Amino acid sequence: MLAASRSLHPPWWQSAVFYQIYPWSFQDSDNDGIGDLRGIRSRLEYLRGAQHSLGVDAIWLSPIYPSPMHDFGYDVSDYVNIDPRFGTLKDFDDLLEEAHRLGLRVIMDLVLNHTSNQHEWFRESRASRLSTKRNWYCWADGKSFGRRPSNWNARFGGSSWTWDPEARQYYLHSFLKEQPDLNWQNPSVRAAMWDVVRFWLDRGVDGFRLDAINWLGKDTRWPNNPFRFGLRGYTRQHHLYDRDQALAQESMQELRQVVSAYRDAVLIGEAAADTPGGPASFYGEGDDELHLVFDFRLMKSPWCAKSFRLCLSQHVPSIPQGGWPTIVMSNHDQPRHIDRYGAGGDAEARARAAALLLLTMPGTPFLYYGEEVGMRNGKLRYRDLRDPYTKRFWPFRPGRDPARTPMQWDASLHAGFTTSRPWLPLPPDSSQRNVAAEAADPRSLWSLYRKLLELRRMSPALHRGDYRMIEDSPRDCLLYEREARTETGTVERMLVAVNFSQRPCEFAFPSGSSHGLVLVSTNPDAADSTWNPTQIRLGPDEGRLVRLS
Ligand code: NOJ
Repeated sequence: MLAASRSLHPPWWQSAVFYQIYPWSFQDSDNDGIGDLRGIRSRLEYLRGAQHSLGVDAIWLSPIYPSPMHDFGYDVSDYVNIDPRFGTLKDFDDLLEEAHRLGLRVIMDLVLNHTSNQHEWFRESRASRLSTKRNWYCWADGKSFGRRPSNWNARFGGSSWTWDPEARQYYLHSFLKEQPDLNWQNPSVRAAMWDVVRFWLDRGVDGFRLDAINWLGKDTRWPNNPFRFGLRGYTRQHHLYDRDQALAQESMQELRQVVSAYRDAVLIGEAAADTPGGPASFYGEGDDELHLVFDFRLMKSPWCAKSFRLCLSQHVPSIPQGGWPTIVMSNHDQPRHIDRYGAGGDAEARARAAALLLLTMPGTPFLYYGEEVGMRNGKLRYRDLRDPYTKRFWPFRPGRDPARTPMQWDASLHAGFTTSRPWLPLPPDSSQRNVAAEAADPRSLWSLYRKLLELRRMSPALHRGDYRMIEDSPRDCLLYEREARTETGTVERMLVAVNFSQRPCEFAFPSGSSHGLVLVSTNPDAADSTWNPTQIRLGPDEGRLVRLS
């Protein structure tokens, strides 16, 4: 049995459920078709109000800083302000105050690797080789015969180097050319970023989601990456030198020191899924680097018991003692999991079973806005697209705009998100698939999420318990137990069983195995409420949560 947490009172972020808000798409308050902070504030009760709320513990706001929005906020032009599209610092303070009043924590998105090319730092840096900010970014001369400093590829296509006629050198950008990379070897850069961190923590935020951290460390001698033959685009080279160097970890250790002055602040890292050592490489010794690191393996996984089992068995044990896993199925960069897992099967049934997994596996779950009502990927036309990365690879890759469409609140025009034309179109099914309709239906996906969230909150086994995979389960099923000692000293044991197959699955545990009470079946028509281990029958794509006696 793997000990997930031994403490009766783990830090808040271990037992919390996070909800990611994409500010462009959550709620528009001034009817310009774009979401904003006042809009978000008006919906906080939905997330954690006294009545009929979903019941999450923390929100993560994707970037809200001033930005020319080439990468929809991940190109920051001022780290200590709010983009006027979203509101003002006063609106932010009001949002924070209201969230805290409701018991909701708020974490900011912090973009560390790069700024916008409109940031004052970059303007100064490019202005002259003698600028005090010159060394804040990664500048290099070309090689002979007009060649770029290295062969590095940008994550969003093309070379990572762009010639700047004003600066008369190339600058490095690991993503878009409008996102120049900061030089993290420069202590002044780190000090400036730590000031940003203090600025927001002093304002009262509860932590940060840290963007693209494995890119912070690169080899500034600019050696060429080796080629990988037969592959195209970003994967056609081994990214040996342009990312994943130890400086990334060292910088995160420094950041941990900075936030240790603030009780309770959480650091959540986002590293590329293929960073060497996986997410575990950013937990340090377990207590000296990041508190949480996203594990994207489930986001890459098909709907398949073997694959989920593998993700769980690799990820959880790889995290050092003191660290804590994360569970992530969807975010603003990937197609929504209802469509990914649902491909070729019953998407609704799989989304229901996925909700059970998300909220009962060991670790801190992250929900992506709208997944609780089963929002699907928008079926967008080229002329609807806004994200340059999505446009660039359209229609060969699904892109990111389809997963960023406005929140579906109710059956009104534009689904209650705005009264004017939304920045991305809403899908035609928003008149049936929305919060108002689903909250009124006890059999809906929304009601299932809410019930699971409530059970998770009440159950020490689910929110902080030890975890044990049940190895001798049928090939298409995933079964695991969670167990914790409660405040009164009794032991609570929960069992989760999910059938990933489109056929029913029948099996039996040896006699003497524990019986139990079925607290949840993801199939709203399932009748039996007792768990008999010698006679188990799970329906197609059905999951069950059982309290073992
Ligand atoms: C990861 C973010 O999630 C993504 O949206 C962004 O484009 C890149 N980092 C670059 O900042």
